[in-house]
Amino acid sequence: MSDRLYIFDTTLRDGEQVPGCQLNTVEKIQVARQLEMLGVDVIEAGFPISSPGDFNSVIEISKAVTWPTICALTRAVEKDIDVAVEALKYAKRKRIHTGIGTSDSHIKYKFNSTREEIIERAVAAVKYARRFVDDVEFYAEDAGRTDNEYLARVVEAVVKAGATVVNIPDTTGYCLPAEYGAKIKYLCDHVAGIEHAIISTHCHNDLGMATANTMSGVLNGARQAEVTINGIGERAGNTSLEEVAMILKCHKGIGINTNINTTKIYPTSRMVSSLMNMPVQPNKAIVGRNAFAHSSGIHQDGVLKNVQTYEIMDPKDVGIDDNAIVLTARSGRAALKHRLSVNGVDIDGEKLDKVYQEFLKLADKKKEITDDDILILAGADRSDLHNIKLEYLQVTTGKGVRSVASIGLSISGEQFEAAASGNGPVDAAIKALKVIIRREMTLKEFTIQAISKGSDDLGKVHMQVEHAGHVYYGFGANTDIVTASVEAYIDCINKFKK
Ligand code: KIV
Ligand code: ZN
Repeated sequence: MSDRLYIFDTTLRDGEQVPGCQLNTVEKIQVARQLEMLGVDVIEAGFPISSPGDFNSVIEISKAVTWPTICALTRAVEKDIDVAVEALKYAKRKRIHTGIGTSDSHIKYKFNSTREEIIERAVAAVKYARRFVDDVEFYAEDAGRTDNEYLARVVEAVVKAGATVVNIPDTTGYCLPAEYGAKIKYLCDHVAGIEHAIISTHCHNDLGMATANTMSGVLNGARQAEVTINGIGERAGNTSLEEVAMILKCHKGIGINTNINTTKIYPTSRMVSSLMNMPVQPNKAIVGRNAFAHSSGIHQDGVLKNVQTYEIMDPKDVGIDDNAIVLTARSGRAALKHRLSVNGVDIDGEKLDKVYQEFLKLADKKKEITDDDILILAGADRSDLHNIKLEYLQVTTGKGVRSVASIGLSISGEQFEAAASGNGPVDAAIKALKVIIRREMTLKEFTIQAISKGSDDLGKVHMQVEHAGHVYYGFGANTDIVTASVEAYIDCINKFKK
């Protein structure tokens, strides 16, 4: 069996299903190019029939990327496949990923069908897709809860029909590592013709076992792993790319390699987190802020004597530049550009000048500028596209007084002002905002991200606002937390479907 594990990145499809973290096509191209530099083998670029945005993204990513295979998701439906074929027309290497639910609950409740009919539909979809492309991956949705004997029949039928890759998703994140590994082994041992296809893992993290399950699958014969950057994805997310890549790098004895250039892991993680406004938990393996930070005295002592006492990986291997230049008000454009580039953002010319001006303003307010700060600054001019902009905000607040806010907004260039009082500064500011924007909207979630490095740090606010039956996600960042909150609210409103 080959000693190469193919890395199938689904950050832009399964990962992007996180509510409120959708990217536009330009941002998706940026991520796809970074994934190409990272060395992934396959980029799942979207589900073309699901929306014109996804269709367009698959087209544009296909044009922008050269080496990785571009994959488009479909249901086992001819119309889906037709649309995917059209979306993939510019891809240099292309794959259609088609499939259907195979667990008894999917067969009964989702399809009101029978096991035999599901096999017929699976085979028909694979054969249909093979009329257009040579590389067809079949997914058996909810394979984690599908009994092995029936799953083997499905897999055998689709491989015979021409599937080049068979994906065994643990869609609900239910399996135990030993159980998932045994499932992969069962398929290797019982499916006639399995040597003509690659078995793929696709594990969800509902019980925190996605990476363990993926590794168990790989150790039992799978040679493709479906993963996302930072493990993002619906609910508790997917298997994270950086974990699988680093496990195989650290455990050389396993004898399986990937094509991942691990020094690009950290910049890629930062880019995805910043574009999706999705913070990485500090203790996240490999890419979290604390992943290499030793704080206990015993550890620090050991690490100072010899890093191998407590470190199993060199931070440089994952692209963490520990000689980082500390940015302050005296740093020049070149230092800012270098730091942004380490974090996966390459900008020049006018854009760099603009971010630099914002950087100087922020550096006047706080001593040390973090990577998070500059990433926010670099992404901040996305608000230039916004119709509604915050012009000014003044709040009077304190103990024993009712807070009062006055606010100025520009809406499509026209100026509006209002004032309101509330039971706190954020409440007063949002009430003033609502005096100007008279739409039905309800704040559903409001998170202020912990200030990590002192009282002058940027406050980061994530909000969800409900309007006309949809929930919109917004983000704001400012050294003034009330302003950050209003900016996050306005970010939500700017996304309302008209
Ligand atoms: O989790 C899952 O089953 C999936 C399939 C659509 C591949 O994402
Ligand atoms: Zn999935």
